[in-house]
Amino acid sequence: MPKKEVSLRIPESLRKVKTILGVFSAKGGVGKSEIALNLALSLKSKGYSTGLVDADIYGPSQPLLLDASSGELEVKDKELLSPVVKEGIKFISMGLIAKERMPVIWRGPMVSGAVMQLLSQTDWQDLDFLIIDTPPGTGDVQLTLLQRMPLNAAIVVTTPQKVSVSDTRKGIEMINKLDVPILGLVENMSFFQPTDTEKKYYLFGKGGGAELAKEYSLDLFSEIPLTEKEDFSILYEKENYRKLFDDLSKKVLDKLKSSNKKMNQIIPQITE
Ligand SMILES: Nc1ncnc2c1ncn2[C@@H]1O[C@H](COP(=O)(O)OP(=O)(O)OP(=O)(O)O)[C@@H](O)[C@H]1O
Ligand SMILES: [Mg+2]
Repeated sequence: MPKKEVSLRIPESLRKVKTILGVFSAKGGVGKSEIALNLALSLKSKGYSTGLVDADIYGPSQPLLLDASSGELEVKDKELLSPVVKEGIKFISMGLIAKERMPVIWRGPMVSGAVMQLLSQTDWQDLDFLIIDTPPGTGDVQLTLLQRMPLNAAIVVTTPQKVSVSDTRKGIEMINKLDVPILGLVENMSFFQPTDTEKKYYLFGKGGGAELAKEYSLDLFSEIPLTEKEDFSILYEKENYRKLFDDLSKKVLDKLKSSNKKMNQIIPQITE
């Protein structure tokens, strides 16, 4: 069956955003939000104007990490929200809008509708990158989100654990059915290395990211170690993590440059 390509009416507010990247994993708790935030911080530190969308409607975590609250949101021209600026990045989250928890019975179309509204009614202005932190799973919420968001490419996160690898495989299969190129994989929580020893402890097993990379011919961009982390601290503020995320963002930039897939502005459509 030929691929269905539907021209996207890109929302006005996203027209000046050059590249939209989604951070995905089918598995919950693997570090999508951490990777999305720290990648955004690294791109920003390299001089790119960067935004971050927390599209996790059920468990938005970025407002906590970035210490943002709904009181900081400003409505501009009645219709448009000004993003909150944190650590130099423009930021918006469902968690800043919803005073109470989102109804858990919301299904795909309602959730993706709300996320699309958030994306399109935010006054992004010119941005080099907009990073979208997505909710976990491969249900209709994620599928509808993937189909509706004007993503240029995706980055997939896993841990080395077998359960994560098998769930992430489902996520990759889902993305592969859509017109969204996967730039590469990030393995998070790869090992733990105490500061006083050279020895690495592979707490969640070893090689899960490499296994997936091989299976799907994807680049394994990074293996990010676990660290003792205070609740709302930012990994990018630690020197060794800054290096790791600067290396990740370099690989992402290189891959985008070398990717000869036209960075089209097309809504991904399922092909079967
Ligand atoms: N490399 C790491 N070292 C230490 N803690 C980490 C690391 N990566 C993530 N964490 C912590 O693990 C928890 C889960 O990470 P995070 O919220 O980023 O995962 P997620 O995939 O976005 O989860 P969800 O599926 O719920 O959205 C968080 O408390 C986060 O701060
Ligand atoms: Mg998250």
